[in-house]
Amino acid sequence: YEVPVAKNEPILSYAPGTPEREEVLKAYKEMYNSTVDVPLYINGKNIETGNTAVMSPPHDHKHKLGVYHKAEKKHIEEAIEGALEARKKWATMPWPNRAAIFLRAAELIAGPYRAKINAATMLGQSKNIFQAEIDSACELIDFLRFNVQSMIEIYKEQPESTASAWNRLEYRPLEGFVYAITPFNFTAIAGNLPSSAALMGNVAIWKPSAAQMYSAKVVLDVFKEAGVPDGVINMVMGDPNMITETILDSPDFAGLHFTGSTTVFKDIWKKIGNNIDKYKTYPRIVGETGGKDFIIAHKTSNPKLVATAISRGAFEYQGQKCSAASRCYIPKSLWGDVKKYVQEDLESFKMGTPENMDNFINAVIHEKSFDKLAGYIDRAKEDDNAEIIAGGGYDKSEGYFIEPTVIKTEDPKYTTMCTELFGPVVTIYVYEDDKWEETLHLVDETSEYALTGAVFSEDRYALQQGVDILENAAGNFYLNDKPTGAVVGQQPFGGARASGTNDKAGSKLNLYRWVSPRMVKETF
Ligand code: SER
Repeated sequence: YEVPVAKNEPILSYAPGTPEREEVLKAYKEMYNSTVDVPLYINGKNIETGNTAVMSPPHDHKHKLGVYHKAEKKHIEEAIEGALEARKKWATMPWPNRAAIFLRAAELIAGPYRAKINAATMLGQSKNIFQAEIDSACELIDFLRFNVQSMIEIYKEQPESTASAWNRLEYRPLEGFVYAITPFNFTAIAGNLPSSAALMGNVAIWKPSAAQMYSAKVVLDVFKEAGVPDGVINMVMGDPNMITETILDSPDFAGLHFTGSTTVFKDIWKKIGNNIDKYKTYPRIVGETGGKDFIIAHKTSNPKLVATAISRGAFEYQGQKCSAASRCYIPKSLWGDVKKYVQEDLESFKMGTPENMDNFINAVIHEKSFDKLAGYIDRAKEDDNAEIIAGGGYDKSEGYFIEPTVIKTEDPKYTTMCTELFGPVVTIYVYEDDKWEETLHLVDETSEYALTGAVFSEDRYALQQGVDILENAAGNFYLNDKPTGAVVGQQPFGGARASGTNDKAGSKLNLYRWVSPRMVKETF
């Protein structure tokens, strides 16, 4: 059969007076004034271990939202057992059942869970409502819908047959279970990594980020209500090393679906390599990791557009997107205008807690991140070859607030031009107008990562030079647009080099990784 044609979920405006604004603020208040207990979820059972960690809003860190429970090794072993037991039925169930469950999950988020998932993202991850709507509600709905459509497109891909030989390609799930490790920054990614593998008939053990547990609970509630059977998606949290090592020790470990830091990803890959003789099958390794994303403006570009791309691309969600612009290359002739427009934009950005919807900037995720960013800002204040041209202030007395900060440097290899900071700090290098080609080569040579990048120019030849010279420097490459905000079904997302395996989230390319096809030839 066919499946419903996937469409992007319309983004609601949350303008004053709209029902969605009232609803999300109501949910926010209710959630703020109550506490939750998040147990492990293993084989359909909630497990409270009593060993707990507190969840707090990053913008109000003395307030307690609740606790989540931490697993011991035996719980991870139970999760593996439960998942493998569940696999026996899940893997053989006709696919429309799997499609129906995840399409229902999408509708639950579009309807009754929308306010709750957004409020949880605002509270737990300190994200403004507009960003939450885009990347927790709508992006997760889109992932679920488009993945179902991609699944059926994959299943339809069949080899030629003849009258006497029927060739059938069976898109079987992997033999074993998938381990999904998800990041704090996008609630949608947290939902997508376990569910995309499960949609293709796999069972998953999902370890959300400790800093995203508050909204992870809501995502799990959606999966349960949508009818994901016991053991198909298990949620575990606790000591990440213990969890990962226990999982990688299992001969049935068949795949890793990861979004997080480059260091952790490489470390897990090495551990998988060391364990390779244990496994029944070569594990699939899919990872989206760090970035040092760029904006490069040519002398023909429009300085207003470039400035808007910097302000939005570097500071949406406090720069805590793997796609966020963090290094910019601006020609000398445009610098005065770009600087003026960026400074104007930043003056208009209000900073504070997300329940006040005028606040575009909220807090960074936790103290560790705050301290690291404050350290880089302090060093830039002291360094001779760096100058702070906007922001530079920070305060963690109530919440982890860091002003959107722009550093200008004379050194294209200055530390903040090369190091991934993952926060509201962008560094700008001003180049001589006639050094366009050299600048493109410089960007390529300093692109250890290759996630996103943007080139601005009104000159088609210059634009094409950017496309050619930076061929391998960004998996998502933008011409005259900011480098953030990829939309599922429109711009499949992922990067190469140290940024990941480039298995484009939300596309067929990703779903192929979760099948182990069997070719059946039957001769008559
Ligand atoms: N897909 C997001 C973006 O494009 C990043 O994960 O901003």
